[in-house]
Amino acid sequence: MSATAKSVAKPLLLTNIGQLLTLKDITGRNEPRRGRELLELGIIENAAIFCREGKIAAVGSEVAIGARATQEIGSDLRVFDCRGGTVLPGFVDSHTHPVFVSPRLVDFEQRIQGSTYEQIANAGGGIRSSIERVRKASEDDLVSAVLRAFEDMERSGTTTIEAKSGYGLSLDSELKSLRSIREAAQQWPGTVISTFLGAHVIPPEFQQRADEYVDLVCEEMIPKVAKEKLADFVDVFCERGAFSIAQTERIFAAAQKARMGTRAHVCQFTPQDLSRLARFEPASYDHLDCLTDKDLQSLAQQRTIATLLPGASYFLAHSYAIARRLIDAGAAVALATDFNPGTSPTTSMPIVLSMACTQMRMTPAEAISAATINGAHALRLAKRKGSIEMGKEADLAVFDIRDYREICYWFGRETCRATVMNGHLAIH
Ligand code: NIG
Ligand code: FE
Repeated sequence: MSATAKSVAKPLLLTNIGQLLTLKDITGRNEPRRGRELLELGIIENAAIFCREGKIAAVGSEVAIGARATQEIGSDLRVFDCRGGTVLPGFVDSHTHPVFVSPRLVDFEQRIQGSTYEQIANAGGGIRSSIERVRKASEDDLVSAVLRAFEDMERSGTTTIEAKSGYGLSLDSELKSLRSIREAAQQWPGTVISTFLGAHVIPPEFQQRADEYVDLVCEEMIPKVAKEKLADFVDVFCERGAFSIAQTERIFAAAQKARMGTRAHVCQFTPQDLSRLARFEPASYDHLDCLTDKDLQSLAQQRTIATLLPGASYFLAHSYAIARRLIDAGAAVALATDFNPGTSPTTSMPIVLSMACTQMRMTPAEAISAATINGAHALRLAKRKGSIEMGKEADLAVFDIRDYREICYWFGRETCRATVMNGHLAIH
């Protein structure tokens, strides 16, 4: 573990913030943002933030906060000049798959030549082609791969990451994957939530015996993962060619029994009837590119977060989720990278926000709320993360821009200058 990774952070004062987006709770109820609430960024001009012991100790106008911080701490204080830039809560990337060994370049070229994601998967490529190398990899190699992904994400302003297993698909290699997430998380100053995705696809040795694999997931894998406290959530790829709604129900029931939260990849390529999953109150449904009208209306009434992943639509040249209709109907929308080797090889939340604006017609303000406070709700972390308020954890992203809308406007141009993770400053 590096010296700073999980140690208590020194006092830190961020000064000269041109635009500070606090995302302060306007509902007063710690509820996810819906509809017009997504537009309220809680902006303070000419601001400063004082962080102590990894938390936000004070936030407000430059004059008031600066004086208070120096008074309290004297010369032991680290001061970072934001040079008139924009500061917002660090992004909460609530959907990533970082435990893999190599990019999937063969799939990439096959798709360019006209094969679809599903055709490649049915021919034994896709997720299955990532399994062999993860099974053979040492835990150390996986830790290095995961840590590199975390550090790349951090450089684009991400401070909290949800990380899934799902390329091992045997008891041992799934446990190895989750342990590698845990170890990488120890070495990184940001915050990691881990998710068990043993139900990603049916592994080759269980072909034609899908239900037996579901038995293994429910009866052996989930209890073992829970016992070792290796994951907070259980995820399922619920899709034609992966797991059915009935199988997802069984897996969710096992997760509930093990007192783990649930979430699912749904409606990425085909519509599904989500009403059968509602009783599990999943933390999020992710993708939703082919959502039915009925499910859209019912999702708007639920606490489950609708996590949209435009990176996957872009990379597969596939249809985008109907963000506008979801927001206008009142669903609580979040945005995440879906970082993975098959459908979304990006670690950059700013690029995802750009796609959300240009391809899904979200406004920059909606995209930023979706990528911060609603991402925190998707991970059930909103009491600690996702906004800049006194007492919350000091997770910040400092951008070298004058106006927050530039985060969504530039694409592929890295403007994130520094991040603060649990009070630890990292300058890029
Ligand atoms: O979120 N759709 C399922 N899981 C990933 C893809 C994983 C892969 O192709 O390696 C996704 O898009
Ligand atoms: Fe995914």
